[in-house]
Amino acid sequence: MAEMGTLHDAFLDELRDTYDAEKQITKALPKMVKAAASPALRDALEAHLEETQHQVERLEQVFASLDEKATGKHCAGMAGIIEEGQSILEEDFDETTMDACLIAAAQRVEHYEMAAYGTLVSWARVMGHTEAADLLEETLDEEKAADATLSSIAKGGINQAAAEAADEGEGDEEADDEEEEEITAGPSKRTSRD
Ligand SMILES: [Fe+2]
Repeated sequence: MAEMGTLHDAFLDELRDTYDAEKQITKALPKMVKAAASPALRDALEAHLEETQHQVERLEQVFASLDEKATGKHCAGMAGIIEEGQSILEEDFDETTMDACLIAAAQRVEHYEMAAYGTLVSWARVMGHTEAADLLEETLDEEKAADATLSSIAKGGINQAAAEAADEGEGDEEADDEEEEEITAGPSKRTSRD
């Protein structure tokens, strides 16, 4: 029977997963920066791209502190989150709605990372990997701050502007709304001759 894995093995596995996730993010963020209309949002995403590059290096320090080689293992979770985020870029949204959607996509990334680093920090602590834990906690704090910045940008005007753009567009959709009501009122009695 194969030897049973320990928490240390699981920890290394999660580290490799996170290392790969960070690398995926460094590739995805430039596309989001390009798609953002709000200068505040663009700046925040750009700053986080730079931060993410440092986080990759910090993970390399974590591996080194454990005498392990820095290797990644495909993170399917992050790949899925990024794929969903990229699909937004193909949508035909007005500028502010696109920005609101970019923030939503970026916050999904941040929350996934916060969950990953939260686990890594606490596992590192219980196993006595103090140096690794301290490094990982630095990144955890950065992810939380990035998430808070995105929230404040969204609530600081982008969501409101997107809602107003939706109101303005409502006039054009009135005809569609009427049709929708008919459908929801019950099965249509119309025949093809009507
Ligand atoms: Fe990150």
